[in-house]
Amino acid sequence: MIEVEGISKRYGDLYAIRDLSFSVEKGDVVGFLGPNGAGKTTTMRILTCFFPPAEGKARVAGYDVFDDSLEVRRRIGYLPENPPLYSDMTVRGYLRFAAKIRDVPSRQVTKRVSEVMGRCGLEKMDERLIGHLSKGYRQRVGLAQALVHDPPVLILDEPTRGLDPAQIIEVRELMRSLSQEHTIILSTHILPEVSQVCKSVAILSNGRIVASGTPENLQAGVEAVCHLDLQISGSMSGAAELLSKVSGVLSVRTDPAPEGAVAALTLDYLPEEDPRQEVARALVNAGFGLLEMSTRGVSLEDVYLRLLKSSAGREWAGGEPPIEESLQSGSTGEEAVSGGEELPEADEAVSGPVAREAEVKA
Ligand SMILES: Nc1ncnc2c1ncn2[C@@H]1O[C@H](COP(=O)(O)OP(=O)(O)O)[C@@H](O)[C@H]1O
Ligand SMILES: [Mg+2]
Repeated sequence: MIEVEGISKRYGDLYAIRDLSFSVEKGDVVGFLGPNGAGKTTTMRILTCFFPPAEGKARVAGYDVFDDSLEVRRRIGYLPENPPLYSDMTVRGYLRFAAKIRDVPSRQVTKRVSEVMGRCGLEKMDERLIGHLSKGYRQRVGLAQALVHDPPVLILDEPTRGLDPAQIIEVRELMRSLSQEHTIILSTHILPEVSQVCKSVAILSNGRIVASGTPENLQAGVEAVCHLDLQISGSMSGAAELLSKVSGVLSVRTDPAPEGAVAALTLDYLPEEDPRQEVARALVNAGFGLLEMSTRGVSLEDVYLRLLKSSAGREWAGGEPPIEESLQSGSTGEEAVSGGEELPEADEAVSGPVAREAEVKA
């Protein structure tokens, strides 16, 4: 459904993304995971025809994002990072407007708008002014406008950003239900979100994909440290010293003793040097009571932190000097020199692409 080959995008001298390649199958839910500035939004803007890649190709449903941008936009619903909603419009009025500029046939507009309002839990808000809605409801309106032309592909840029915990759960549930009928790319910098919502993950760091796969594969594929949580009775410092000498144990952390004479410790070890038997034996031989021992495997968090750490510092080193960005006819070049300023808000989800299409055709 989505094929990306070697795309790059520069802002001035800085590569926001560099040589990204990935593909997304129909029905997949892919999470772009990465810290701020990793290149998630830039990648999404290329896929949604906001600007073309400087290098490389991106296709959605077989259509090139630059050459066939109208066809691509028909098939994509986009929730931008800061949904540019019109605060003096009512929810229904705005969604009708969004439906019309997305070429929903006029006799279907009323029905489509009602459907997406139902889907996004907006029925009771239909006559509210958008400016009077809470952040959570505004995010739902953003999702509803992305869905209004019933696109097969959804691109959601940090859909849960800025929401409170209850709203986050609601929006995640909505995304899960949407994933049954749509191919979805969503971005986040929140780890648990990815395991909860996505079938696969691409971890971005400094404009590159540093790992991708299912959350499980990522966890399995990275050589990482395992943890052993222990509860023992007896002196904590004595136990820590004893255990740090056991072969295979990389480090020992002592946790503040919960209560009484029970001490809690955590050991790190490499999976191929499992020290559990030796730990148990050493403790018992030295007169400690072993109350509890449990292992913790590699978490997605471990994988993520490790990847970010290993990718930091070698960024852009040794790379070719940037190739001049070709400002293809009619494409927007202003971002390339805009010095970090985001484009004016209410430009992106609704009026932007249409305005730009006109430019491209002119
Ligand atoms: N309009 C812009 N002008 C200049 N630099 C930008 C602009 N937008 C993003 N950048 C830079 O490009 C990099 C990637 O940004 P972005 O794609 O927004 O990352 P993310 O969405 O992962 O936080 C960052 O270093 C960011 O500062
Ligand atoms: Mg972003």
